[in-house]
Amino acid sequence: MSNKPENITPIFAQMLTRSDKEKLLSQHSACFWFTGLSGSGKSTLAIELEKELHKKGYLIKLLDGDNVRTGINKNLGFSETDRNENIRRIAEINKLFIETGVITISSFVSPTNSLRNLAREIIGNSNFYLVYINTSLNVCETRDVKGLYSKARKGEIPDFTGISAPFEEPEKAFLEINTSEKSISECVNILIKNILPIIKKIN
Ligand code: ADX
Repeated sequence: MSNKPENITPIFAQMLTRSDKEKLLSQHSACFWFTGLSGSGKSTLAIELEKELHKKGYLIKLLDGDNVRTGINKNLGFSETDRNENIRRIAEINKLFIETGVITISSFVSPTNSLRNLAREIIGNSNFYLVYINTSLNVCETRDVKGLYSKARKGEIPDFTGISAPFEEPEKAFLEINTSEKSISECVNILIKNILPIIKKIN
């Protein structure tokens, strides 16, 4: 059952604005969208980045594929249609946080440019910073932290990104980080250096 547009009366104009919330929090909100293969280090870096920014006084919401898929998106799988719906919902959730002045770090495989562009479109180009965690399939597969690559190679996981489903290189990333060449703290320092000027405190 869908609502008829003529029966809906949005109250956006009467509400406090994003800028009111940003002032309250002394920060500029934005979305830092991490894309990369499973095992590329997205979640590890997102967790460390959140801690560092928290220490500096920034309010962050970390959204992660594996977490979200146990909650709001637990009814979704990995077909093209389901990945699309996964990203669409997460992008809408990002928008809610950004409108509340909160900075988001979104860590999703988001394997195609069309999925990343869907997120960019919903979140808004000026709010969206794509971070490509560029770790080769070979390195991710050797790490195989969750044992998923080995299962996928045996044909036990259908549509597994990098093995039986595609991963496209991002067309335009704000930042690209190769985790196989650097330590975690080196990667986090690069992230902080590039992110701080965007979210910097409002006095
Ligand atoms: S996305 O493609 O829709 O953006 P998402 O980031 O939410 O993916 O979830 C990816 C995580 O789900 C991976 O890190 C991995 O742990 C798990 N996973 C389970 N099955 C698959 C699969 N077929 N392809 C990719 N990741 C999978």
